Amino acid sequence: MPFQFEPVKDKVSVYEVSLRDGLQNERVTVSLADKLRLIDALVASGLSRIEITSFVSPKWIPQLADGDDVARLAKAPPGVTFSALVPNARGLERARAAGMKEVAVFLSASETHNQKNVNKSIEASLRASREVAAAAKPLGIKVRGYVSTVWGCPYEGDVDPERALAIAKELHEMGVYQISLGDTIGVGTPRQTSRIVEMMSKELPLEEIALHMHDTRGTALANILVGLEMGIRTFDASVGGMGGCPYAPGAAGNVATEDLVYMLSGMGIETGVDLPRLIEAGRAAGSIVGRTLPGKVLQSGLRSLRA
Ligand code: HMG
Ligand code: MG
Repeated sequence: MPFQFEPVKDKVSVYEVSLRDGLQNERVTVSLADKLRLIDALVASGLSRIEITSFVSPKWIPQLADGDDVARLAKAPPGVTFSALVPNARGLERARAAGMKEVAVFLSASETHNQKNVNKSIEASLRASREVAAAAKPLGIKVRGYVSTVWGCPYEGDVDPERALAIAKELHEMGVYQISLGDTIGVGTPRQTSRIVEMMSKELPLEEIALHMHDTRGTALANILVGLEMGIRTFDASVGGMGGCPYAPGAAGNVATEDLVYMLSGMGIETGVDLPRLIEAGRAAGSIVGRTLPGKVLQSGLRSLRA
């Protein structure tokens, strides 16, 4: 009996993270002009939600030390939202000064990764996130949130999904509009994803959940397909498949945006993204970082969009 796909009629939202998750993990530090060029190429492809930088400590992530300039100089056309990662009130203040209308707070479901990544306990990160959310509200700045290591931690191994759920509920309660669940090191498999999404769906509206899958072991699209079938409508991706957290050893790139959009287009699902132009953006990304990027559609090109 053939596998029955439920036809997906809703538009799917692609949240692009190459300028942040991608560039934070590159050996080379990309120039401001090249970052702006990549933003333009991504916008030209029709992507409407783009994380353009981080306002974290430049000592921790030197590749994104120019975040203030990137945010000041990148102009979002109507209908396009730029966002940036912020770990604390200082980060929010930098984002506000640069004119950002959206930021993202982040923390991990596992204590050790949180400590390595932001030098704080999960409890202290929740306090910092609450402070950011409270300060952002009167400024009219929307707050997104990440929960990392939901599928597994590079230091602790398996992570009880209940820990991610408890954090996601707190983020929801503090006014974070969407919570992106991260498979930071790309260890997730489909049944696990099904269990995680089901658990979340019992406590939180699914439109507030996004999946942020790294593709270290080639399972990102399989996990995304499970999430899609279960009702998730936002997926994070990085053009060319760049990405990785420098404080999560073994993390490889995010699912490539071209691969995600190829799969969704082939299934007849609308994303608003023009695939040939997205591939051009992927090529621009590869030339900017000076290496062949791992994205499969980027490497093989388009032949057919039929599923
Ligand atoms: P700390 O050293 O504990 O912080 O770092 P501190 O508060 O003691 O401050 C130390 C210095 O940093 C001070 O400067 C502060 O002013 C400065 P100094 O006096 O030494 O000159 N500082 C800042 N500077 C600029 N902007 C700020 C800021 N805050 C403090 N916002 C801190 C704590 C959180 C700052 C640090 O650990 C940090 O920046 N970590 C960021 C790590 C990071 O960006 N990791 C990658 C992103 S997470 C990820 O990739 C996962 C994700 O993709 C989802 C997934 O895949 O699962 C989101
Ligand atoms: Mg990530």
